Amino acid sequence: MLKIGLLGAGRIGRVHAINIDGHPDSELAAVSDVNDEAARSLAGAYGAIVAGADEILDDPAIDAVLIATSTDTHSDFIEKATRAGKAVLCEKPVDLSLARARACLAKASATGVPVMVGFNRRFDPNFSRIKSGLNAGEIGKAELLSITSFDPSPPPISYIKVSGGLFRDMMIHDFDMANFLMGEAPKTVHAVGTSIVDPAIGAAGDVDTAVVTLAYSDGRIAVIKNSRRAVYGYDQRVELLGSEGLLSAGNVLENTVSKATRSGVTSAKPEFFFLERYLRAYAAEWDAFVRAILDGSVVPVTLQDGVAALAMAEAATQSAASGQPVHLAP
Ligand SMILES: NC(=O)c1ccc[n+]([C@@H]2O[C@H](COP(=O)([O-])OP(=O)(O)OC[C@H]3O[C@@H](n4cnc5c(N)ncnc54)[C@H](O)[C@@H]3O)[C@@H](O)[C@H]2O)c1
Repeated sequence: MLKIGLLGAGRIGRVHAINIDGHPDSELAAVSDVNDEAARSLAGAYGAIVAGADEILDDPAIDAVLIATSTDTHSDFIEKATRAGKAVLCEKPVDLSLARARACLAKASATGVPVMVGFNRRFDPNFSRIKSGLNAGEIGKAELLSITSFDPSPPPISYIKVSGGLFRDMMIHDFDMANFLMGEAPKTVHAVGTSIVDPAIGAAGDVDTAVVTLAYSDGRIAVIKNSRRAVYGYDQRVELLGSEGLLSAGNVLENTVSKATRSGVTSAKPEFFFLERYLRAYAAEWDAFVRAILDGSVVPVTLQDGVAALAMAEAATQSAASGQPVHLAP
């Protein structure tokens, strides 16, 4: 039984608490949040104690920590936790600064303590089926990947201002999905972005709509499309064309009923947002982490994967600003 310390009792921390508590091999032992009330109410719901982050990291009874605090704290907590010998599952992104994330990778790797990054979409049953189908040779060699990822509506401007921008905050999931499905990082990143949904997002120095083309050294291509607004809901689709066929995953709908009348055929909307759409993925992600720690195997999404996706986000941010493709260091 792994005893877990949860850092951060916000939106995603609460989802992780459900999965930690619901897993047969993990137990939520302690919760820390700078917001006392948030920590108390979450800890109380699961019989965990409330403690300071440093207390949790110093507690020999804690085996692993889940970092679900605000992004600007991730690198520091990863370094402290690995120094203290605690296995880590840390939410994305590793940091908003690539240089800081690389320094964190160097320090954490030197300890040999496992760190997994929370790219939950790899554990979505539909997207992981595309990966296993590809690995089984069902469509031959992957040649052209298309990822569509639209949010239902933009977050508040206050969030946009501290988010690190669409490429680091939102598209980072899709960069990791591209790395996961294509099996390597691309050679070049070419981004076009606009603030067509809300000019205030542009005034804050960000984009709300973007397309990125990734080119691979062997000629393969991936295209990622992001928008902060899709009025019909959270649109999450992946299509992978291979030399011998196509694997594609559509949206998960709120229900499976379709209505056919004289005026046409309609179906339900996609599940509302990430907390609904990726409910199963978060649980499978946690199970994969627990299995890896208990078996002593390599975690399925490494800190290196987190840094690789961040390097692509930084390249896309530069490319959208300059209009030029950016070459990634091998
Ligand atoms: N993988 C995903 O699908 C997904 C979804 C949402 C958020 N996230 C990531 O998770 C992180 C948290 O996002 P959120 O939406 O839950 O935010 P949130 O603001 O709801 O929660 C963050 C919590 O961390 C607490 N906190 C901040 N600094 C702290 C510190 N030093 N010590 C202890 N607690 C501290 C805050 O008080 C807050 O309660 C972000 O990095 C975000 O990018 C990932």
